[in-house]
Amino acid sequence: MTNHIDFQKIVDQALSGILLLDQNRKIVYYNQTSLQLFNCEPEKLKDLKDFLHPDYHEVCSQRLNRVFSFHETAEAMEQKLVTYTKEIIDVEIKAIPYDLSDKTLALIYIRDITKQKLAEKLLSHNDKLASIGQISAGIAHEVRNPLTAVKGFTQLLKEQVEHNYLETIESELDKALSTLNNLLQVSKPDLIDEARVPIRLCQELDSIVFMFQERLYNIEIHTDFKDRQQVFMGKKNILVKAFFNLIKNAIEAIEGEGKITIKHFVKDQVVHIVISDTGVGMKKEEIRLVGTPFFSSKPDGTGMGLTQVFTTVQQHQGEVHIDSVKGKGTCFYIMLPIL
Ligand SMILES: Nc1ncnc2c1ncn2[C@@H]1O[C@H](COP(=O)(O)OP(=O)(O)OP(=O)(O)O)[C@@H](O)[C@H]1O
Ligand SMILES: [Mg+2]
Repeated sequence: MTNHIDFQKIVDQALSGILLLDQNRKIVYYNQTSLQLFNCEPEKLKDLKDFLHPDYHEVCSQRLNRVFSFHETAEAMEQKLVTYTKEIIDVEIKAIPYDLSDKTLALIYIRDITKQKLAEKLLSHNDKLASIGQISAGIAHEVRNPLTAVKGFTQLLKEQVEHNYLETIESELDKALSTLNNLLQVSKPDLIDEARVPIRLCQELDSIVFMFQERLYNIEIHTDFKDRQQVFMGKKNILVKAFFNLIKNAIEAIEGEGKITIKHFVKDQVVHIVISDTGVGMKKEEIRLVGTPFFSSKPDGTGMGLTQVFTTVQQHQGEVHIDSVKGKGTCFYIMLPIL
């Protein structure tokens, strides 16, 4: 039976990338899955270090030392690889001593966990939103009622006495109530469940750009709308608000002159909307924080714009990706599946 088993084929088709490294850390064997993982031709696959993210060079070298010098297994550890085409992927790597004649090699298993990591990130983001949502919805609800009463009494007072402070009191109360309503909308989106209607997103994007016209004297807005006729079934009010928030952020990110590009196209039954700006950009830590309610770097920002964007996209089973470089600009990719 064993004679008929094609072990090479079994190893080649394994879910993990499998490599053998010699004492000089050179790759002396690889399976087909490794080539797919590294996205490269066999002749380029010589040294694992070429594909290891620089953050992991040191730890990988220590782990291999343990394998070669102490004959110990380096258990599965999460690391990052950079493929030949410069994509960064999340992987789990395990290294085991492998004796061949009088030499010890390192047998390396590499499992692609990019999808798993993405799912975990989305889940934890949803969890974070859900718990912050519950707390803030509770507070917003409790504070809104007395404020509404104060507003009512202010209006009554205005009918009886004249005082110029009363106007200010009323307009400040309106601001506070609008903030609370926004908060309720993003933290308890199910409370205000909107029906899905057919929307032509390009038309809506055109109207939003038009609304910002007067603020655009030193900002060039370029639109590249493909598949203009595409009809998307979605919750119109919140989608328009989300794109409004994204374009507003892009405009606010530009100090002085700059350019904003808005793209729309459909690919594989998914509507893609890409909004990029040449503004101030964000650091990695900032990218991680955006979408958390109240996170804002602006003196008068509420920090709820992107929370609204995330909840809206989530309600449409879509995805948001952010690319941003400090000092260079930011790009928001919104993907909305056509259901
Ligand atoms: N296009 C962008 N470029 C650079 N930074 C951005 C961009 N979009 C968002 N940010 C950062 O994310 C933060 C949060 O954005 P968000 O829209 O949630 O709130 P805000 O814009 O600060 O306030 P509000 O939307 O209520 O006016 C911003 O304060 C800013 O630091
Ligand atoms: Mg904003």
